[in-house]
Amino acid sequence: MLDIYTLDDEVLRTDTEKVTEFDQSLKILVDAMFDTLTEADGVGLAAPQIGVSKKLFIVDLQKGEEGRYVFINPEIVETSIEEGPYEEGCLSIPGFYRTLYRPLKVKIQAQDLNGKYFNLDAEGVLARVIQHENDHLNRILFIDHLPEEEKEKVEKAFRKKEAKKHKRKQK
Ligand code: NI
Repeated sequence: MLDIYTLDDEVLRTDTEKVTEFDQSLKILVDAMFDTLTEADGVGLAAPQIGVSKKLFIVDLQKGEEGRYVFINPEIVETSIEEGPYEEGCLSIPGFYRTLYRPLKVKIQAQDLNGKYFNLDAEGVLARVIQHENDHLNRILFIDHLPEEEKEKVEKAFRKKEAKKHKRKQK
């Protein structure tokens, strides 16, 4: 399992670069990301979360191979005007969930593991996860969408929790 970077790690706020090599090492990286995502019991994981500043994220709706998606150099090309609420969490801010409104449908263009371009129309949970993960590639965390006060509350609570964890480790 790869290490998952959290809230205050610089890499989550670092610009990402386009993937240019569609080689074996990319496939190995993506495999490791799926293993990590399964282990962490999450539905989506973006490369910056494992310390890799590249435009790449994966989704696993945990319906076996069918629910697995790899998006490389993605671009959300269309979003629905209609928005809806959904409770989001993030493996980089474990334990904190907040309801966000986002477009209910998106159209995304991306490349697959072989570099081939594809388009996908997504709705429901998939559309939600795509928007959350795509944000990671643009240095955005879901708490950035909250009112400033609410965001600070989450940050403070997360840091407090982390500090306690480290204290326990020292003992
Ligand atoms: Ni996230």
